[in-house]
Amino acid sequence: DEVVFSGIQPSGIPHIGNYLGLFLPFLELQSSLPRSTPLYLSIVGLHAITLPRDPNILRQERMDMLAALLACGVDPERTCLFYQEDIPEHAELAWILNTLTPVGRLQRMTTWKSQIATRTSSSPDQITDLDLKLGLLAYPTLQSADIMLYKSTIVPVGEDQTQHLELARDTAEAFNRAYGDIFPLPQTRIVPSKRILSLRDPSAKMSKSAPLAASRIVLTDPPEAIRKAVKTAVTDSEPSIKFDPEGRPGVSNLLLIWSSLDPSGQTPEQLAEQAQKDGWGMAKLKDAVTDVVVERFGNIRAEYERIRQEKGWLSQIAGQGRAKAGEVAKKTMEEVRRAVGIDKL
Ligand code: TYM
Repeated sequence: DEVVFSGIQPSGIPHIGNYLGLFLPFLELQSSLPRSTPLYLSIVGLHAITLPRDPNILRQERMDMLAALLACGVDPERTCLFYQEDIPEHAELAWILNTLTPVGRLQRMTTWKSQIATRTSSSPDQITDLDLKLGLLAYPTLQSADIMLYKSTIVPVGEDQTQHLELARDTAEAFNRAYGDIFPLPQTRIVPSKRILSLRDPSAKMSKSAPLAASRIVLTDPPEAIRKAVKTAVTDSEPSIKFDPEGRPGVSNLLLIWSSLDPSGQTPEQLAEQAQKDGWGMAKLKDAVTDVVVERFGNIRAEYERIRQEKGWLSQIAGQGRAKAGEVAKKTMEEVRRAVGIDKL
């Protein structure tokens, strides 16, 4: 039986990459799967602290992420929406999985390598292994624990998470080999709009942490900010409009965003063809992209601002998620402890 699980770090307001890479596919599953299929969506605070965070900001951002997910249409009656850090079993299972995970696999993760690269370039002489923390290296094992704790089989994520998902599959397999068949092997589900690029540098993915705000569009951007970000988006000097992610990533990124949000359901190729036929230039394309984003995010922003004020309701939703997730987590951990031989004596 299928079980759907995904997670998101509470670090800043979600951007259009998160929205198209995770939220939309998740909402699609939420409305299409039979009610008997459990859905989990977790705000992962234990992952967020693998890089230094200000505690007060983190606290606020955890709550904001819950508000953002609700504003986007996650239904707390259908989806178990919870804070990872509320369920101690995540850390407990992660510890057990750490005993099965080869350090070499973790060191080969692109997320880890990009952290090393970032730090090495800022202070090439000073980087030592004292700067790199064990928790950051073990980040993917905690993610495996998140997935396995609910015996998840479908994990909708953006393309940047595929390596982590491969590890999760291998870790589940390693556990089963060592201790008996407890875990199903999770599948990755990536949607067509799997990788949204930075608007300023189409060679990089859009990210929450890039310094330039105009490199992304976030859910709460007012129309003027969206218009400006799209208008200044880096494309190329070719006059034609063509969907060619390899050769022309900037234009293709805009076409992908447009197609993902356009109610007509046309593919990026079809939209490009039509624009080309109508003799559109880049300015017209950017206007069309701005329009669909403003249309979609306008309502979400209003909902988000409203929900954010409802602190009592938010903590009630969190409590409901904690109770539901906690029950399942407890059951799985009892099985795991027994299999490993560390159950109560
Ligand atoms: P996070 O918080 O970085 O991102 C949340 C989701 O958004 C997707 N995403 C993107 N998709 C398309 N284009 C982009 N530019 C883009 N940027 C982000 C991500 O792929 C992700 O699906 N490690 C995870 C959180 C996590 C998790 C889990 C996910 C923890 N435990 C268990 C699934 C299952 C992360 O950092 O996502």
